[in-house]
Amino acid sequence: PPLDEILNLHDFEAIARAVMPEKGWAYYSSAADDEITHRENHLAYHRIWFRPRILRDVAKVDWSTTILGQKSSMPVYITATALGKLGHPDGELNLTRAAGKFGVIQMIPTLASCSFDELVDAALEGQTQFMQLYVNKDRAITKRIVQHAEARGIKGLFITVDAPQLGRREKDMRMKFEDTGSAVQNETGEKVNKNEGAARAISSFIDPGLSWKDIPWFQSITKMPIILKGVQCWEDAVMAAEAGLQGVVLSNHGGRQLDFARSGIEILVEVVSALRERNLFPNPNFQIFVDGGVRRATDVLKAIALGATAVGVGRPFIYAYSAYGQEGVERCISILNDEFEMNMRLIGAPTIKDVVPAMVDASSIAVH
Ligand code: FNR
Repeated sequence: PPLDEILNLHDFEAIARAVMPEKGWAYYSSAADDEITHRENHLAYHRIWFRPRILRDVAKVDWSTTILGQKSSMPVYITATALGKLGHPDGELNLTRAAGKFGVIQMIPTLASCSFDELVDAALEGQTQFMQLYVNKDRAITKRIVQHAEARGIKGLFITVDAPQLGRREKDMRMKFEDTGSAVQNETGEKVNKNEGAARAISSFIDPGLSWKDIPWFQSITKMPIILKGVQCWEDAVMAAEAGLQGVVLSNHGGRQLDFARSGIEILVEVVSALRERNLFPNPNFQIFVDGGVRRATDVLKAIALGATAVGVGRPFIYAYSAYGQEGVERCISILNDEFEMNMRLIGAPTIKDVVPAMVDASSIAVH
């Protein structure tokens, strides 16, 4: 269908499934084990309801915000998703170009199909980009990647901490077996033998030995804000704040890692409560992000109300370019803009600062 008949972010998924290469669909859509966490990610938002305010003069509404000190046209960023060319020949460039046009921040993945420099070069003057980091067992390689990113103007380093080993994504594994017989391509492109156990082999370069002891080293090699991506409980969020990091992403990797991990929005409630008790929240120097299953501006507004600075959106953007290229991503952002305008009016919040905890009823998400 023509793009103007696409009315919401769910639509892109249905169309991508029908039109994109099967291998790409398997990689993008798959999640760990029985995909329970993947489903829960979006469903968790259904348990939170609004408490709108009236007569607030919402003639003008403004949903622009600041993320890690950088301007963003909305409280949403494009999160890191690997292997962009499985969906479209221009891969992640579709995201960079659309993000630049609309003032949205893109997080560049370590395992992008396009080269890092290609994606930085494609950014407009003043366009903000973040970087997602998988930490290599060889720290010299990681140091080079991080310092190169900083030199190229990257404004935030998101270290993925939920993937010491890649999860089993069976839809994707089956596809790879069919394609390559006994040899499976791992995410860095090297051929591995499936008999060694594909999940283990695929994650071979990522260091499962990464620990809190490494944090001071990261802080010593870069001045970029450092954020841990994949925090799943308040204890680790408190440790991150106490370690002097600049934030956490409450995320289960789009349901692709530990099945039965909780959704980010559910984790947010306990994290904010624990940080508040310790006078660590609110704190402009320690920001909380959430990702997983965000498909509507209402989902975003719920997370903002509960204390998130911004949320990451993954699959909708990659489905959008898999089906329509850069224009699909632009349409995706425009739809979110329309949804923000209407829903900010309907909840009675002229600006993002007005989206406060009392605007939601999250009583079904208990703090333990
Ligand atoms: C991801 N994600 C991810 N995260 C990361 O830290 N490094 C990576 O390389 C990838 N790669 C990746 C590939 C694909 C195809 C998907 C779908 C996801 C996880 C991603 O950053 C984010 O946590 C989730 O995608 C958010 O969930 P939604 O928006 O996709 O539901």
